[in-house]
Amino acid sequence: MWGGRFAEGPSAIMREINASIPFDKALWRQDIAASKAHVAMLGAQGIVAAEDAAAISAGLDRVAAEYEANGVPENWDLEDIHMTTESRLAELIGAAAGRLHTARSRNDQVATDFKLWVREACVQADAALGALQVALVTRAGEHADTIMPGFTHLQTAQPVTLGHHLMAYYEMVQRDRSRFVDAHARASQCPLGAAALAGTGFAIDRHATAAALGFAMPTANSLDSVSDRDFALDYLMAAAQCALHLSRLAEEMIIWASQPFGFVTLPDSLSTGSSIMPQKKNPDAAELVRGHAGRIIGCATALMVTMKGLPLAYSKDMQDDKPPVFEAASLLALSIAAMTGMAAETRFRTDRMRKAVELGYATATDLADWLVRAADIPFREAHHITGAAVKLAEQKGVALDALSLDDLRAIDARIDSRVFSVLSVEASVAARASYGGTAPAQVRLRVAEARLALGLGEG
Ligand code: ARG
Repeated sequence: MWGGRFAEGPSAIMREINASIPFDKALWRQDIAASKAHVAMLGAQGIVAAEDAAAISAGLDRVAAEYEANGVPENWDLEDIHMTTESRLAELIGAAAGRLHTARSRNDQVATDFKLWVREACVQADAALGALQVALVTRAGEHADTIMPGFTHLQTAQPVTLGHHLMAYYEMVQRDRSRFVDAHARASQCPLGAAALAGTGFAIDRHATAAALGFAMPTANSLDSVSDRDFALDYLMAAAQCALHLSRLAEEMIIWASQPFGFVTLPDSLSTGSSIMPQKKNPDAAELVRGHAGRIIGCATALMVTMKGLPLAYSKDMQDDKPPVFEAASLLALSIAAMTGMAAETRFRTDRMRKAVELGYATATDLADWLVRAADIPFREAHHITGAAVKLAEQKGVALDALSLDDLRAIDARIDSRVFSVLSVEASVAARASYGGTAPAQVRLRVAEARLALGLGEG
């Protein structure tokens, strides 16, 4: 397609290093759609005769049907999906096929195809994350009253509700979704018609092709159109942030499923066994989600480094933009699906959570706060008194609220029997009813809002 000025063909190594068809064949639907929009516009503008435009369009439909039925042939000599499609079109309809490439270049073609693909990937990620939210919100609603230890430094800190903990991930996922929605919106300008880099002398209608492909408008600068890949980086950075969130949920599932914690029993369907230790049930899916986050971040890093310092406009380095995006998209889709299944089907061992929170002296802050409120003791002193109470409970091997009033009064005589109303874990979580707090009533409110936003019933 470009050999006119060359005396000899490319070497085998040149053909191999140059070929993007092994991966950019994934763009075939976008390539056909963009070519059809382009040729319809060429016909409407009288740049290509109406009969030729119609023949090209029908021919592109035949090529698409072949790809659908048999896959895209991988011939390195044709380099990429653009030339593969055009060459097959020529075989099918003859010389008129040569008119398709009027007033465009592979540079604007690849930018358009890839942007269409990334836009669709944003829509898919948003939808898949919506399904994860449904699972999280459903389980959070079931466990608005379930009490577990809340951690800082992975040490028991204060009692929280399991529903509150699960809803923390709902919030993260909500922001992840908004990042994909933003990336989609920012990629709403169509590069087609920028041609090689400078625009074209043909009287094309870029607004028509942009609209036909579902873009809001054409891009405003031809150099920028063919040389920027920030739409792909927006997607990859949204994917990396999302993968980070998923890896934290995965990590918690791994820890919670370990025997010393025993907070959850993971679904068999998302676990594996050991070939040597019959008792083992391993959280492999969660571990792989944790691991995939590393690869997805690697994909984002790879494209950033590829783009860094590239002069305008197109350089062949940019052909390397697609593998990291495709890889990240498939890893992310699997990761979201795995975590959705885990959120939906994990069995929460609420008895174990309850025991852990009682043995962790999680209501120590409540005791200190009570000393401040009821006995007007400065918080620093109250903190110290409470420390002594925890030490005594630890020595006796009992929960804080199992200490007797005499025990407590021996530590500080200002304590009276009203203190027992704040020492239970139920009282502790119920008291944290500030907006966004862990109180079951607050969790139910947020779950109800989330269910409404997700289009779910009241549940
Ligand atoms: N295969 C190329 C890519 O994916 C298409 C653009 C080629 N443009 C060029 N000037 N050689 O980036």
